[in-house]
Amino acid sequence: MAFRRVLALFGPPGAGKGTHGAKIASRLGLPVLSTGDMLRDAQRVGAPYGGAEAAAALRSGGLVADYVVAAIVAARAGLPDCARGFILDGYPRTTAQALLLDAWLAGKGAKMDTVVVLDTPDSELVERICGRWIHPASGRSYHATRTGALPSSLQEREAPSAETMRDDVTGEALVQREDDTLEALTRRLEAYRAETAPVLRHYADVVLRVDASGSATASWPRVARALGLEAAGEGDSDDRSRM
Ligand code: AP5
Repeated sequence: MAFRRVLALFGPPGAGKGTHGAKIASRLGLPVLSTGDMLRDAQRVGAPYGGAEAAAALRSGGLVADYVVAAIVAARAGLPDCARGFILDGYPRTTAQALLLDAWLAGKGAKMDTVVVLDTPDSELVERICGRWIHPASGRSYHATRTGALPSSLQEREAPSAETMRDDVTGEALVQREDDTLEALTRRLEAYRAETAPVLRHYADVVLRVDASGSATASWPRVARALGLEAAGEGDSDDRSRM
């Protein structure tokens, strides 16, 4: 199968890869392949890719081994819904992963055609990540302090907790990701700068840089414009990602 479109979303943790990725996917009609989501889903069902070592990396904000993520992506991208192409979220994250991906794509007569970099200042990332609560089953994402992303269960002056933070659709408890702590975020940012930013030089010919600061609603038109997509569309609501 020769994929027609292969896009990748780059950006530090909290830049909005998941949030904007879902909208890009609905405009292009392509699936998003998020290595973070795939690794976490496998942990949740008790079939962790990469075993205890990968579980520790996920918790602490370190990177999972290249061969593990390369294998996950190759298996997922081989499914029929990827026949027209796909959007990569969180992969490749190292130069070794980029080389593995390029070789795999070349074997299918394809190559990376667009890399979107979501540029966001560090000061915004801390607030986005440390306030994020998610509904694990659906991936719906909320924020403990940001108007427009609060769950309806949280009343004024209430502190965020498993009791007060509930999913708007199911009423189930929201959770914070294990790596959404200041300590793990620091490690994730270090990994991004040391390991992932250099990958952009590798794809320099196909890189599009977008200012992803501000709210998701404010930054989405800039992302859409960079990709030549319609900004308005069905199913768009607020800052909630992966809904
Ligand atoms: P992964 O799940 O990929 O995490 P990440 O890259 O750290 O990114 P996040 O999912 O935290 O953020 P995002 O950019 O998607 O932002 P979001 O849209 O959620 O990876 C996790 C771990 O998995 C890694 O640390 C590693 O251990 C492992 N891993 C994964 N891939 C790997 C690989 N290839 N190799 C090795 N290891 C790998 O937005 C964040 C929040 O901000 C949301 O709540 C959103 O509503 C809000 N928000 C506020 N303003 C905006 C705005 N302007 N745009 C978008 N969202 C906004």
